[in-house]
Amino acid sequence: MVKAKSVFVCQQCGMTAQKWAGQCPNCGEWNSLVETVVAGSISRSGKKRSRGRSIALKLIKLADVSSAAKQRISTGIGEFDRVLGGGVVSGSVVLVAGEPGIGKSTLLTQLALKLSQEREKSRSSVLYISGEENPEQIKLRIDRLAPNVRSSVFKNRLLFLPEVDVDVVVASLEKERPGLVIVDSIQTMFTSDLSSSSGSVGQVRESAMRLIDVAKKHSMPVFLVGHVTKEGSIAGPKILEHMVDTVLELTGDRQHEFRVLRANKNRFGATDEVGIFSMENGGMQQVVNPSDSFLAERQKGVPGSCVVCVLEGTRPMLVEIQALVVPSSLSVPRRVASGVDQRRVQLLAAVLTKRCGMRLGDKDVYVNVAGGLTIREPAVDFGISLAIASSSKNKALPNNSFVVGEIGLLGEVRKVGRLDKRLSEAKSLGFTRAITSEEFSSLSKAILRVLR
Ligand code: TYD
Ligand code: MG
Repeated sequence: MVKAKSVFVCQQCGMTAQKWAGQCPNCGEWNSLVETVVAGSISRSGKKRSRGRSIALKLIKLADVSSAAKQRISTGIGEFDRVLGGGVVSGSVVLVAGEPGIGKSTLLTQLALKLSQEREKSRSSVLYISGEENPEQIKLRIDRLAPNVRSSVFKNRLLFLPEVDVDVVVASLEKERPGLVIVDSIQTMFTSDLSSSSGSVGQVRESAMRLIDVAKKHSMPVFLVGHVTKEGSIAGPKILEHMVDTVLELTGDRQHEFRVLRANKNRFGATDEVGIFSMENGGMQQVVNPSDSFLAERQKGVPGSCVVCVLEGTRPMLVEIQALVVPSSLSVPRRVASGVDQRRVQLLAAVLTKRCGMRLGDKDVYVNVAGGLTIREPAVDFGISLAIASSSKNKALPNNSFVVGEIGLLGEVRKVGRLDKRLSEAKSLGFTRAITSEEFSSLSKAILRVLR
């Protein structure tokens, strides 16, 4: 009898089964059975594992551990370097996750171009493994991204491998030993050791494991592209998060040009840095001065508009919040938010009703962050509330004002961190009137004073 190469393991209780089932027969969990390579039958590199033999101890003394700082390679794209913590660390595996069409392939193609141009002197190459597009399609993109590059040297440094079998990929990596590897995307990779289709949890995990192994063995930096849907439900990025060194998330609104690159996990750097890009005809362009860009189309003196200062990592940014309050024809009026959490808007509308006597019970409230940016910081609460109040009273906020503060359920304005940084960013852009918790202790007082 042929020994099975794989079994299905319940991710909840650890039970193993020979066949897939929708529900685990042991613990009753649904959709928890994931195909896994049988330990011992095949090792990750495809060789037999020695079992039962005595194991030679390989302990390393702290004194013997070299303290040489990990070498970093600059990507040549400043915003990208900032998010990575100063450049690509050799041997690190970076997952670049994002919705389809957001610009992952574009950004990584730009990275490949930069590095293959910069490394002209060294002998190492950049390998772009593509399971989604063929080299001709990537070439089309490169022509779009770098139409004027005349140097032909990089054309020999940038290699393509249209391949979906991860074992072929691993063998190619062992042979070519490129200086940088891009795998676009991890969901298309599969190994014939598992019977499930590519993109399934088992395949994605096993493929990633094999790629991580070679990356560590030969100290090659590897970038994995991972698609996520809006719900984040597609197999892949979630299970990969604890396996890779760094998880970068590319977000943005496809209708707008701004894209934000965030580090959600980083073993070699801070996780709170963001890189800001705009998607243009010539690819992803760095936005060096985000506040200027986000406020570019702002109209001054209009009710419902409010400038807030958010902090992304160590970087302050000025953004415009827009609100619209209109009579509702519905029995349950609408609370619509884009760019900020809808529940936050509901809560702030409730605080405005109860603590500030504002009648919003028969009004629809729309809140929008101009530019398509998504803000998670509670420091925008005060700004959202004043924008709603401003639209409701049809009175504009003072000229050159900006708002910073968190709102509590009692209607109090709370302090937020790094106020000094926010103030100086706003001042540098000509916003002289700061509306903060230092001046107002409660939202109702602020509304009375500011929206007269
Ligand atoms: P892509 O990088 O293919 O997305 P992903 O790999 O995340 O699925 O980007 C797709 C979008 O980007 C597509 O709608 C076209 C647009 N785009 C530009 O606007 N400018 C460019 O220079 C390029 C290459 C793409
Ligand atoms: Mg792509």
